Amino acid sequence: MKTVAVVGTQWGDEGKGKIVDMLAADADVVVRFQGGNNAAHTLVVDGEKFILRLIPAGALHPNKVCVIGNGTVVDPIALNEEIAALRARGRFTDPSLLKLSCDAHMVMPYHRAIDRAREARAGRRAIGTTGFGIGPAYEDKMARTGLRFDELVNYARFREKLERNIADKNAYLRAVLKAKPLKASEIIDQMKRVRACVLPYLCDTGAYLAEAADAGRRILFEGAHGTMLDIDHGTYPFVTSSNCIAGAVFSGAPLAPGRLDAVLGISKAYTTRVGGGPFPTEIKGALANRLRTEGEEFGSATGRPRRIGWFDAVLARLAVRLNGMWGLALTKLDVLTGIDPLRVCMAYELGKERHVEMPPGRAALERVRPVYEEMPGWRESLSGARALDDLPLNARHYLERVAELAGVPLAMVGVGAPREATIVLRNPFLV
Ligand code: IMP
Repeated sequence: MKTVAVVGTQWGDEGKGKIVDMLAADADVVVRFQGGNNAAHTLVVDGEKFILRLIPAGALHPNKVCVIGNGTVVDPIALNEEIAALRARGRFTDPSLLKLSCDAHMVMPYHRAIDRAREARAGRRAIGTTGFGIGPAYEDKMARTGLRFDELVNYARFREKLERNIADKNAYLRAVLKAKPLKASEIIDQMKRVRACVLPYLCDTGAYLAEAADAGRRILFEGAHGTMLDIDHGTYPFVTSSNCIAGAVFSGAPLAPGRLDAVLGISKAYTTRVGGGPFPTEIKGALANRLRTEGEEFGSATGRPRRIGWFDAVLARLAVRLNGMWGLALTKLDVLTGIDPLRVCMAYELGKERHVEMPPGRAALERVRPVYEEMPGWRESLSGARALDDLPLNARHYLERVAELAGVPLAMVGVGAPREATIVLRNPFLV
């Protein structure tokens, strides 16, 4: 297959970075189509750890074209810093390999300030955002007051709009959020500096991707966050401000519907989430602490400890349906080593009713009780496994049951952090 999207099936942090990085080896072009630097992909390549926030994971392979589509919101200062940090480590040295959509919206310092001030004021009602200004930037996009990258071309006009926006946002910060206003001159200076750095990357990414698809090039679409953080289909309002499901490829890359060959969903062998919101299979106490430590479950973007839970097949089935998933990559199976028994949530109870599919209205998730199936664990290390036959029998049974409950074939299994610590059953680019 030539065009493949990778999406998270839970609340983000499913280990998409590693799988995308691995698949990028077989792709010609790697594309981000939604979200911003609220995403963070941690990758270990040749023993070196990298965290990518805006640049697609293809950047760690030589000669892959990296595309940031119009559906993203991009903090130009953060983008420049990320490019500079990669270059300082000898990666991503050819500027012609980055294509940034001229229609993508910019995240401005006032978006960050509003995001943080709102969260601080919300207290216990806070969403637990990453604080990078993502929600306020998407708000401006929908309100038609946002600034897009192509506006940087005519700097005088851009500056006029920017000054108007800063005045509006400062009034809002001061009067409603009781927060400190920002210095207009500082933002204008920053944007002047950043402009020269980003202009060479601007591109009509839709035209570029259509041409690449026509030429039969392999294109990998790299989803950020996860299905349960999707603005429409996730646990609203504890979600991010973009569509994270595979359908967002068609508006946010963009690629025309019908041209996407396969969707690979990524899930952890257990579940995590950061920030507030319902989490039916959440575990607290010593076992959660152990999994958090073993799995290094601290946010790559913010360092926050992640909440931990058992694998939830009700969520997985929803993700399979919403994304039209071709296969499932289950990551971090090794983290479950030594835990006995293991639990998998196969249904929810709500009042006297049992639900094997997600009940309507995400608010119901606050009230559901998970119905668990228990399975025996294993003690052997999994890190050297490169085929299913290398795994202990109980680990194989766990995988089979998870795939059966989710209703999707397994495509890959992660057994450790390095690129090579993956059992590949089906690589979508090679079928
Ligand atoms: P925002 O995207 O910063 O507005 O945050 C909204 C919600 O999405 C919060 O609960 C965040 O913790 C969560 N979130 C955003 N990006 C990620 C991610 O990449 N991984 C996990 N959670 C995320």
